[in-house]
Amino acid sequence: MKKDREFKMAMSDLVEKLFEMRHLARQGGGAERIEKQHAKGKLTARERVDLLLDNDSFEEFDMYVTHRSTDFGLDKEHYYGDGVVTGRGTIDGRPVFIFSQDFTVYGGSLSETFANKINKIMDMAMKAGAPVIGLNDSGGARIQEGVLSLAGYAEIFQRNVMASGVIPQISAILGPCAGGAVYSPALTDFVIMTKNTSYMFVTGPKVVKTVTNEVVTDEDLGGAMIHASKSGVAHFAAESEENALKLVRLLIGYLPQNNLEEPPIKPTKDPIERMEDDLNEIIPDNANQPYNMKDIIHSIVDEHEFLEVARHYAMNMITGFARFNGRPVGIVANQPNYLAGVLDINASRKAARFVRFCDAFNIPILTLVDVPGFLPGTAQEYGGIIAHGAKLLYAFAEATVPKVTVIIRKAYGGAYDVMSSKHLRGDLNYAWPTAEIAVMGPKGAVEILFRKELKGEDRLEKSAVLEKEYRDKFANPYVAARYGYIDDVIEPRNTRFRVIRALEALSMKKEINPMKKHGNIPL
Ligand code: HXC
Repeated sequence: MKKDREFKMAMSDLVEKLFEMRHLARQGGGAERIEKQHAKGKLTARERVDLLLDNDSFEEFDMYVTHRSTDFGLDKEHYYGDGVVTGRGTIDGRPVFIFSQDFTVYGGSLSETFANKINKIMDMAMKAGAPVIGLNDSGGARIQEGVLSLAGYAEIFQRNVMASGVIPQISAILGPCAGGAVYSPALTDFVIMTKNTSYMFVTGPKVVKTVTNEVVTDEDLGGAMIHASKSGVAHFAAESEENALKLVRLLIGYLPQNNLEEPPIKPTKDPIERMEDDLNEIIPDNANQPYNMKDIIHSIVDEHEFLEVARHYAMNMITGFARFNGRPVGIVANQPNYLAGVLDINASRKAARFVRFCDAFNIPILTLVDVPGFLPGTAQEYGGIIAHGAKLLYAFAEATVPKVTVIIRKAYGGAYDVMSSKHLRGDLNYAWPTAEIAVMGPKGAVEILFRKELKGEDRLEKSAVLEKEYRDKFANPYVAARYGYIDDVIEPRNTRFRVIRALEALSMKKEINPMKKHGNIPL
C-alpha cells in the first residue's frame, strides 16, 4: 500500500515535469522574442499552426529535440524543439503533415536537428500519403553549425524531389527565406507569400550592392508582389498571414491526398443544367475587341467559385481550380483582356507547370481557348520561346487526365495545336459557334495570299472583301468539325452542362504513357 502511494506521488511529479517541459517548449525563444515577432506584424510558429489546422487536431512531434552544437557557446544554450514546430493535424478532417519554423529561436535558422525534424515529417507524410505544408520564417543556415546545416538543407531538397508528384507540397513564406533555403519552397507545388512581411532571394540587398552595385530593398528584391508578378516564384501574394493560411486550406480542398487518390468531391446545390444566357452575348462583334475570360469561367463553375493560381503573373494566361458538379478541375484559359491572350514565354511556363501539377494529381483539365498565336519578336525569340512554348505543348501532350477543351473564339496557328487540341489527345473538344480555327487571322492571311492583288487604290476595299471571304471559309469551327477535330459545336449558354457531362463521361478514363525513366521536357 505504502509503495503504491510512493509510486503515485512519483507519477504526479513525472507528469508535472512533462507539463513543465511542454510549457517550456511552447515558449519558443521566450516572451521578449515573441513580443518582437508580434511587433513585426507576424504570428508565432504555434499561432500559425493553430490558425491553419482544424481546432484541436494538432499533434506535435519532437518537441524535446535540442541541437547538438558545442561551438560559439551553444553548449550552454538549448531551446526545446530547436526552432521548428512539427507534427500532424487535419484540414477539413483530412490529415496533413506540417512544419512551422520558429523565428524566436535562433531566427528560425536551420541546424542539423532542425533539418532532421523536417525530414522526419516528410518521411511520415510520404508513408501516410498525405500533403506536407511548410510554414517558412527563417534566417537560413544556422551559422554556428556550418556544413551540418548545409547538409540538412540538401536532405530536405532530396525529399522534396522524391515527394514531387506523389504528395502535394505547399509552402507559405511568412518571413525571411534567403540563400539556398529558397530552394525547398521552389521545389514544392505552391508558394504563398505574405505582403510586406516576407521575402525570398538567393542573395540579399547587401550582397547585391557589393557585387552589382545595385541598391534595392528587401521588398523590391524579393517581396511577395515581386515574386507573384515578375518572377513567378510565388503563386499567391496574401494580404496577411491569416489570409495566407486560409489560402492553404482552400487549396488543400481541391487536392487529393496523394497521386493514387482522386481529388475530393464537394457536393453542390448549383444545378448542372444551369443556363447562362449572357454567354450567348459575351463575344464582341469585332474579333479584335477583348472581353474578360474570367466572366466565362465564373459563370460556368460551381457556385461561381474560382481559385486563381498565379493571378498576377503572365496575365494573358489564366490558371486555377474550380469544381464542376462537385469535382475539382484545373482550368487553363487564354485571357483576351490582356495582350490579346497571346502565348508568350511566361504564359507558356505558367500553364505548363499547372497542367503537369493537375496531371500528377488526377485533376481533370478544362482548357478554354481564345489565342491569336505566339508573340512575335526578338525578345521572345532570344528568350527561348521555342523551348518554353514546347513545354506547354509537352505538358498537354503527356497529360493522361481527362482533358476537355472549349474553343471560344480564336485558335490560330501553332497555338491551336498547343492548347489541348484533339491532336494532343484532347478527349472532348468543343467549340462555340464564334470559334475561328485557322492557320492565322484573316488580315494576316489575306496580306500573304493576295500580296500582288492588293496594290491599287482600292486596296482597302479589296482586302475587306477577301478577309470576309477568308473568314467565311476558314475562320469558323465547321472546317475543323468536318474533320472530327471538334467533337461538337455547342451553344455558349449551355457550356456548364456540356462540360459537366463531358467530365462525367471521362471520369473512368484510363490512359497510360509508354514506360520510361522520365521524359525530357525542354527545360
Ligand atoms: C543563427 C541567426 C541566424 C542564422 C538570425 N539569427 N539568423 N542565428 N544563424 N542564420 C538569430 C540572430 O542572432 C538573433 O538572435 C535572432 O536570430 C533574430 O535575428 P535578428 O537579426 O535580430 O532579426 P532581424 O533583425 O529580423 O533580421 C532577420 C535576418 C537577419 C534578416 C534574417 O537575422 C540575418 O540577416 N540573419 C543572417 C542571414 C544569413 O546570412 N543566413 C545564412 C544564409 S546562407 P537573438 O539571440 O539576438 O535573438 C544560407 C545557406 C543555405 O542560408 C544553403 C542551403 C543550400
